[in-house]
Amino acid sequence: MTKKALIVFGAVLAMAVSDKSVMAGDAAAGEDIFNKKCKTCHTVEEGKHRTGPSLFGVVGRKAGSTDFKRYKGLKDADFVWDETLMVEYIGDPKAFVQSHTGNKTTSMTFKLKDEKDREDVVEYLKTVK
Ligand code: HEC
Repeated sequence: MTKKALIVFGAVLAMAVSDKSVMAGDAAAGEDIFNKKCKTCHTVEEGKHRTGPSLFGVVGRKAGSTDFKRYKGLKDADFVWDETLMVEYIGDPKAFVQSHTGNKTTSMTFKLKDEKDREDVVEYLKTVK
């Protein structure tokens, strides 16, 4: 490859990479969705639980591991939340719990259908730590 071809190749690669980051979630949009759809049951303050557990630092944390007393589907869960798992979970908590834990049901009775919304909200939750 000539030097010029290498430069062109590099530029195309850089564009492909930056394009990918545009595809990922948007944290600002995610905060909006969180405030509208999740805040009735969740806070992002450490140790402050409502109907659901605090989501402070939840991405990268072991599932079901806060001192929240009413875990059901995530009780004794044996995995750590990453983006992929969380996007799947929020879309259908009950189905998720059945396929990823030994539990049959969940106390989170809410589904966020839109995949882009789910990616955005998870992107926002990554910033809360
Ligand atoms: C109706 C109340 C309710 C709503 C609305 C709700 N949740 Fe939950 N959420 C819960 C409950 C209850 C749990 C505990 C689930 C269990 O153990 O079965 C939970 C658990 C979670 C967990 C796992 C926390 C942990 O400690 O492992 C995440 C992540 C989560 N919810 C994200 C969200 C997001 C994001 C939204 C908004 C799109 C949302 N939830 C909306 C009630 C709710």
